[in-house]
Amino acid sequence: MAVIIDGKKIAQETRAEIAAQVAEQKNQGFTPGLAVIIVGENPASQVYVRNKHKACGEAGMYSEVIALPEATTEEELLSVIARLNDDTKIDGILVQLPLPKHINETQVLNAIRPDKDVDAFHPVNTGKIMIGNPDFLPCTPAGVMVMLKKSGIDVTGKHCVVVGRSNIVGKPMAMLLLAANGTVTVCHSKTQNLAEVTRSADILVVAIGRADFITGDMIKEGAVVIDVGMNRRADGKLTGDVEFASCAEKASYITPVPGGVGPMTITMLLQNTLTAAALHHKQ
Ligand code: GUN
Repeated sequence: MAVIIDGKKIAQETRAEIAAQVAEQKNQGFTPGLAVIIVGENPASQVYVRNKHKACGEAGMYSEVIALPEATTEEELLSVIARLNDDTKIDGILVQLPLPKHINETQVLNAIRPDKDVDAFHPVNTGKIMIGNPDFLPCTPAGVMVMLKKSGIDVTGKHCVVVGRSNIVGKPMAMLLLAANGTVTVCHSKTQNLAEVTRSADILVVAIGRADFITGDMIKEGAVVIDVGMNRRADGKLTGDVEFASCAEKASYITPVPGGVGPMTITMLLQNTLTAAALHHKQ
């Protein structure tokens, strides 16, 4: 039976460390500040944004939520970003995704100053991650790396299989595992013989967005299984991309959903905001 990696506990410990560093920055005369922009009324996004705002307050940071109506034009959104780019109270800017269809997401993300891009979605930051010289790490993959580290799991030389190739999780996850000296394979919906590949994983990270997609017969005995999935079942319950019961029997370590990777994501956003403030106030 696998050890269950407690994301909630690791997130709490990490947030306490961040809060101590925020207090230190305040002693030096500045307060890290985050601006979160939400366009429209997607209920899931509203919950995420509220949680981000609350987490900032708990860590002692300044935060602003800018809620714009669904009908906001791309120009209007770009002018809000331009104002925040120049606002010295604001160290980090996050535009909650998805955006309404009439707004070009790429244009918007590229308008955020790279040194305030706490999501690490700007091409400058994705490029820095690629060459192994990052200022910010994308929140979800960074959270996974902290969970591995705090659980005493060494990535060096291990076969790490990432299922999913999104810009938000799969691709940067592969880069971070590679930077930690893992041997990395990225799989996706077109991969042939997927189960054969996942069965060869020492560390399996799943971010494909399909409920209970990875079953016990698709993993190796003793594998570390990290579930980034967040799917809503017909009965309203949250479930991951990994069938927990059958995988927990074979894995050495496994993350649950909820209470696994989820709580780490906002924690890493706080970390990036702290890092941005330190960059902006470097002597
Ligand atoms: N929507 C879902 N995940 C994310 C994320 O990591 N960042 C932003 N900005 N929006 C999201």
